[in-house]
Amino acid sequence: MDETRITVICENRAGGVIGITGEHGFAALIERGDQKILVDTGQGLTLKSNADAMGIDLKKINTIVLSHGHYDHTGGLPQVLFPPRGVRVIAHPTVFDKKYAEIQTPRGKTQAFIGIKFQREFLEATLGARFDFQTEYGKIAPGVFFSGQVPRTTDFEHPDTHLLVKNDTGFIVDPLLDDASLLIETAKGPVIVSGCAHAGIVNVMNHFSEKSGHDTFHSVIGGTHLGFMGVGEQLEKSLEAFDRFKVKLIAVSHCTGNEAAAICYNRFKERFAFANAGWSTVF
Ligand SMILES: [Fe+2]
Ligand SMILES: [Fe+2]
Repeated sequence: MDETRITVICENRAGGVIGITGEHGFAALIERGDQKILVDTGQGLTLKSNADAMGIDLKKINTIVLSHGHYDHTGGLPQVLFPPRGVRVIAHPTVFDKKYAEIQTPRGKTQAFIGIKFQREFLEATLGARFDFQTEYGKIAPGVFFSGQVPRTTDFEHPDTHLLVKNDTGFIVDPLLDDASLLIETAKGPVIVSGCAHAGIVNVMNHFSEKSGHDTFHSVIGGTHLGFMGVGEQLEKSLEAFDRFKVKLIAVSHCTGNEAAAICYNRFKERFAFANAGWSTVF
């Protein structure tokens, strides 16, 4: 099997490459032979400049996978879609839902729009995006599998109640059904790449295990949302699940946050990595 390289282009922190910067967001490139799949696009602040600094040509990317419809994963879409060339964009069909975050201001609570800031029509008609909406687990490229909608089966991974979606009747807690991840079969074993894992990282691992038949994963790379869920049962059970699935590399990012990442480091030591912008590894 050809080697698989995974490179984080956008992340909250940056390091290891001269000229790159951080932003609250996530984007990672999966490269194997001619295959170049971009998982998420960050906010759009650092994707192009970081890619340039890392010698990555965004014009060679012909598949984008959106882990969900938040701005910090989708804001760089135009920078990859341009010049228009029919880039395939794989996502769950609710990715364009009107997503908001409830935030506290000095004058009280308010809702800030945090969804995709571009019209679907603009991305398609002007930038040539070819949306490929999928709700089911399935192969999207040789050895690469999209999670589809992740069943929420654990009793300790709950929706983040400050994340909302606006429908005809008003705001409700966003079930984030669009939260999706990838499973990549590599020469070293199966690797999971998540964006935010709003579905819960244990639900994600359980789902991939059930669908693929794997009971171990070589690596889990990306966001885990543990940073927003506090230090408690969900974090502890997530760490237990990394052990249960015998994960050799826990490379957390983004919404894992500093505290949960520090706890992961202390527990997993050489099995741990900060997958910040500029971090890259080969399988
Ligand atoms: Fe998110
Ligand atoms: Fe995020």
